[in-house]
Formats: sequence, C-alpha cells, structure tokens
Amino acid sequence: PRTPEKPVTAFDRTLVTAALPYANGPIHLGHLAGVYVPADIYVRFLKSQGEDVLFICGSDEHGVPITIAAEQAGVSPKELVDRNYPMIRDSFTALGIEFDNYSQTSREIHHETSSAFFLDLHASGVLEQGSSLQYYSEENDRFYPDRYVLGTCPNCKNEKARGDQCESCGSQIEPEELIDPYSARDGAKITLKETTHWFFPLGKLQKWLQPWVESHPEWRENVRNYCRGWFESGLGNRAVTRDLSWGVPVPLPDHEGKVLYVWFDAPIGYISATREWASEQGDPDLWRKWWQDDSSRLVHFIGKDNIVFHAILFPAMLHAHSEDYVIVDNVPANEFLNLEGHKLSTSAGYAVWPVSYTHLRAH
Ligand code: 2FM
Ligand code: ZN
Repeated sequence: PRTPEKPVTAFDRTLVTAALPYANGPIHLGHLAGVYVPADIYVRFLKSQGEDVLFICGSDEHGVPITIAAEQAGVSPKELVDRNYPMIRDSFTALGIEFDNYSQTSREIHHETSSAFFLDLHASGVLEQGSSLQYYSEENDRFYPDRYVLGTCPNCKNEKARGDQCESCGSQIEPEELIDPYSARDGAKITLKETTHWFFPLGKLQKWLQPWVESHPEWRENVRNYCRGWFESGLGNRAVTRDLSWGVPVPLPDHEGKVLYVWFDAPIGYISATREWASEQGDPDLWRKWWQDDSSRLVHFIGKDNIVFHAILFPAMLHAHSEDYVIVDNVPANEFLNLEGHKLSTSAGYAVWPVSYTHLRAH
C-alpha cells in the first residue's frame, strides 16, 4: 500500500505508455532494451512503492510500411496486422512485460477515438486546409509517399536520391525539385499532382510549447536539446492527412482516399487503449481519470527517433483539443542499441529476435 508520508510522485496516479511498436514485424532486442524493459522496470518500481499505475501499449498498425509488408506477403493490411498482433503481444508476455492493455490501432475503438479527436480540432477551427504537390503515378492512379520515390538529386546529381532527402549529400528535397522521379517499388513513372490536406498549426503553437519544454529542467538533456533544435529552426505546420487507402479515414465529407497521418493517429492510440481497458473494467468512463484529471501524471517511454512526436506534436495536439487533457510530464527517450556497430533494424532483418531468449528463459 502507498505510504502517504513518502510518495514517490506528487500525483495521485501515473499513466505509463511505451511506444506502440509498428506491426510490420516482430520486436527485437533494440526495442526491448530502449523502451519496453526500462518502462517495465519503472512501472514495477512505482507499484512497489504503492503508487497507482496504469501501463499502456499496443501495436501501431497504420502507415505505409504496413501496406508494403502486406503486399509482399500477398495479404490485406488488416490480415497482416492481425497475424502479427498475437506474435508481438506474446513476445512481451513471454519476457514478463505485463501491460494493463496491449491494443491495436486498427480496432474500431481507435478509429472512433482518433476520428473524434480530429473532428474536435476541425470543429474548433484549429486545423487549416492547404494544398501541396505530391508524387503521383498516372499509370497506377495513386499517390506515392515521398520516401518511396527515387530520382536524381538536384544538388549532387546522385541518381538514387529519395523523394524527401538525398542520402549522399544530406539535402532535403521538395517534390518539385527531384529530377526524373520514379517509384522505388515498381519503377512506375512519377509525376506531380496537386492534393489538398489538413494541417496542424505547430508553428502557432511554438509560443506555448517552448516555455512548456523549458519548464521541465528535469527532462533528459538529449530530449531537451532535441526540442531546442526544432524550436531554433522554427516549427512549421504539419499535414495530418495523407492520400492512402490504409489508415483511419478522414471523417469529413468528400475526403475519399484520404486517411489520418499515422503520426497523428498513433499517439491517440494511447487514449484508445486506455478507453478499451476502461470498458473491460466495466466502467467505460474510467479512462477520463487517467487522461483528464489534474492529479494524474503521464510518462512516455520512447526511442530517440520518436522525440518530436511525443515532446512536441502530441502535447500540442492535446493542448489544442477543446477538452482539458493531461500533458506528458516526462519523456524518457533512449539512444539506439547497436549490434557490432550497426543499428538494429526490423525491415533490414538485422536484429536479435525475442524468440532467441524466450527460448533460453524457458530452459
Ligand atoms: O517508431 C515506432 O515504432 C512507432 N510505431 C512508435 C509509435 S509511438 C506512438 F505514438 F504510438
Ligand atoms: Zn544529393
């Protein structure tokens, strides 16, 4: 039981989230070392001190890499994520990492929660509409995400530059600058087409974000410095919709073929997973105690590549919502674990997989 004379936190309860892993493959040692084991240790510590804790996670099931993995496996994206879901969930269980809920962003409750969130921002006039030129294939009648387009770098003439960035010279590339673009997947010729999207006004919110981050001197230096870097270059507005068929459909009339940007819907997944947990407790409104009560504390465990989304974008989204939400109190972000000098990677198949050690553990 909690010892009120010596509470570990100044709050009545702590909601701990661990980054929702992409469902395009199994989790590996890098994920475990950087995010899930530290989060689990922290949760166990708080519980041992009698603190009220909820530990939330789930699979991040939208985004382009999932559609590609599904195409390669010859199944639908939903089939792919449903196939990977028990595998990922069971790896955590086998390793003794016990979430209060491990959900999926392709579930109805998440579609409902993230659509409602989008509509709230839209109805309050927070979101702005804008148009941009996007890579498009006439032949396949579809838009292509920047990173799946290759072409010649306008700067150094590298012929394998990506649609958003040239890895040889490091320059950022705008769609209208890339020379002779083609699809990295099927070689299709790429042209440009105008498309309309909804933008979240991060630029305007910088004046709220910057002092808020500075009010947290206890955050890790890597997280604070990373945020400062973003503030120094000035935050720009972010498109929160995409031209894709897989994802949460934009809940507005005349928006066929458009879905919410995966980094808009994924963090809302923490809320959906809490709502799902609350329903399972037989008290659907219980999630509000964790997300909308001042005496609750929120902590996000993440890898360093997720800092901008958890320390800038998601806090700003919660702040802009018309209801009051609990905003993150700390963002422990770890560096990547390297294996013989190289970063671990699911898509490159370069990793140590949990099956290797859950097997050892069983013996
Ligand atoms: O980097 C990743 O693996 C992402 N799937 C993390 C998402 S965290 C949260 F926003 F859902
Ligand atoms: Zn270049």
